[in-house]
This record gives sequence, C-alpha cells and structure tokens, in this order.
Amino acid sequence: MIVKKDKIADNTYSIWFYHPEICNHFMAGQFLILMVTENGERIPLTIADIDKNNSLVRIIFQVVGYTTKLLSELNVNDSIYSVLGPLGNALKLPENTKKVLLVGGGVGVAPLYPKIKEISIHLKLTADVVIGARNINLFILTDEIEKIANKLYLFTDDGSSGHKGLVTDGIKKAIEDNGNYDICIAIGPLIMMKVVVELNKSLNLPTYVSLNPIMLDGTGMCGGCRFLYDNEVKFVCVDGPIFDGFKVNFDDLMKKNAQYKEYECKLNS
Ligand code: NAD
Ligand code: FES
Repeated sequence: MIVKKDKIADNTYSIWFYHPEICNHFMAGQFLILMVTENGERIPLTIADIDKNNSLVRIIFQVVGYTTKLLSELNVNDSIYSVLGPLGNALKLPENTKKVLLVGGGVGVAPLYPKIKEISIHLKLTADVVIGARNINLFILTDEIEKIANKLYLFTDDGSSGHKGLVTDGIKKAIEDNGNYDICIAIGPLIMMKVVVELNKSLNLPTYVSLNPIMLDGTGMCGGCRFLYDNEVKFVCVDGPIFDGFKVNFDDLMKKNAQYKEYECKLNS
C-alpha cells in the first residue's frame, strides 16, 4: 500500500509503499518489476531507498509513457497491482577501493542514491558525487545527497543552477579538484553512460553502469533485456543490472530501445 507520494521535480514522482519482504532482502542496486493494472505493461524500476524501521520501499520515476502516467495517478492508500523483486545483483566493489566517483544524470540519480548511501555510510569510503540535470527544475535528491557525499558537484545544461555543463564536465572538474578515483559508477540515460564510459576509458578510470532496458519476466526467460557485452549475450535482469561499462555495447542497447518507441507513441496517442 502506498503511504507517501510526492512530485519531486518536473514530471518526476516519489512513492513510498509498505513491503516488509522487499525491505528484508534489499541490496543496493536491485530493482523491481511493477504492474500498475492487471493487464498492464511490466516496467522495471530500481529501488531508490528503503526505510527498514517502517518496512517502506521508495521508487522514483519520471512520467515517460502510458504506464508511468498510470503509476503517477495512484495516491496514498492505493496499491500497486503487482510488485516483483528485489531482482538483480548488487555491485561488489573491487578490492582496495577507497575513493569512488558517483555520477548521476537526470532521473538516473534515483538508482544512484542507494549506491552513494552504501559507499559513504555503510562502507565508509570516500564518495564524491557529480549530478547533472537539464535545468534546475529537474534536480532530484540533492539535499539528501549533500548530507552523505564527501563532495557534491551540481551541473545544469543551461547553467540555471550549479556549474554550467554536462556530467562529463563534472567528472573532469572532480578529478582536477581531487585527483584520481579508484572507480566511477555512472547512472543515467544510455547516451550519457556511453559518453561517460568513452571519457573514462581515455582517463583509465574503471566505470560501472546500471542498465534499465525493456524487461518482461525479469528471470532470464523472455530475452527482452538481452544485449551484447564484450561480444557475448548477457541478460540485464539476471546478470545485472550493474555492468563494467567498458564492455557494454551501448549502440546495441540503444537500437533495441528505439524499437519500442513506436509502440509507446501509439499507446500515448
Ligand atoms: P536527461 O536527458 O535530462 O540527461 C540528464 C543529464 O545527463 C544531462 O543534464 C547531462 O548532464 C547528462 N547527459 C545527457 N546526455 C549527455 C551526453 N550526450 N553527454 C554528456 N552528458 C549527458 O536525462 P533524463 O531525461 O532524466 O533521462 C531519462 C532517461 O534515463 C530515460 O531514457 C530512462 O530510461 C533513463 N534512465 C536510466 C536509468 C538507469 O538505471 N540507467 C534509470 C532511470 C532512467
Ligand atoms: Fe526477460 Fe530479462 S526481462 S530475459
């Protein structure tokens, strides 16, 4: 049952719902597959936060199509028709990791937040964070992240808040200020993760990304989330969702995502 719902940025909502089992099994980076109605589409959403004391699970999503619009219309005391999860694996940090740069673009900051919490609060490592948004009205979770990050760099495409520029400018700035990092974790739109990986390859900075393609069953059976990884077929739902960014074939993933755009447009019209 939904216990709290807020609009936290343009077109972006936060929902807390009661679910003790998910809370008990959650690991940072895992996701859920939701159905809003009985015959509706199944959509994957990364768990943005957990309140273990009150058995609450938080999801944060942008209204991008038919199903996310339906989800945004649910209110406190409503129930989501079906919630499957937690699914997927947590990222195990390489040994001797001490200093991590976490990079979030747009609504990708939501799945990044549990990683920041884990690295900063639970593992007590240095967690510097770069957040990029198109403009000031699209920032999410900045107050929460400011409290736990070692350093926080805010960038907007239009310069309406923080530094003017993209997350790639933020990565350069963080390295200029603080020296090299052991690893980077980047989450956001595919094109952002692709460009971040290209930059970080040139900087020799190992980079992990979290993928969220179209998913159906979430168990490795339907093949909906398969993609090319180091020239091998992998499934985001069972092998991920976090992967070594240097091995991800982003062009393959982007081509697959584009295939569903036409169907989504029909549903919305
Ligand atoms: P957006 O397009 O507003 O981009 C957010 C920021 O990412 C930009 O401000 C910029 O700093 C950076 N960025 C974007 N393109 C870039 C480029 N070419 N080069 C360098 N930096 C770039 O993001 P949005 O509208 O919030 O994103 C929506 C997309 O994110 C959806 O397609 C959704 O599927 C995806 N998404 C991914 C995840 C995930 O787990 N990977 C989670 C949620 C949403
Ligand atoms: Fe079906 Fe991954 S969602 S194989």
